[in-house]
Amino acid sequence: MILKFAINVPMIVCVCANVSERQLRAVVADGATTLREVQRRCDAGAGCGACRDAIRACIRECRAEAEIATLDLTPAATPDFAAA
Ligand code: FES
Repeated sequence: MILKFAINVPMIVCVCANVSERQLRAVVADGATTLREVQRRCDAGAGCGACRDAIRACIRECRAEAEIATLDLTPAATPDFAAA
C-alpha cells in the first residue's frame, strides 16, 4: 500500500526550484550536459546547492543510458566455414 502511494508521487530532486527527476531527465534528454546548463534551463541546482550532486549523478546516468541505447548490438558476421 505504501509502495503504491510512493510510485504516483514525483520524486523532487531540487526542492528550491521544485524540479522532479522526470523534469530533470527531460532537460538532460533535451541536450543539457552540465550542471550549469541544467541550471540555465530549469533553475535546478541554482539555489542552496544541496541537490547538485544528485543532478550531476542524473546527468551521468542519462548519458550512460544514451550510450547504451546507441550501441550496435547486432552479432558480428559469422565466418562461412562451408566455403573453406
Ligand atoms: S535543493 Fe536544489 S538548489 Fe536547493
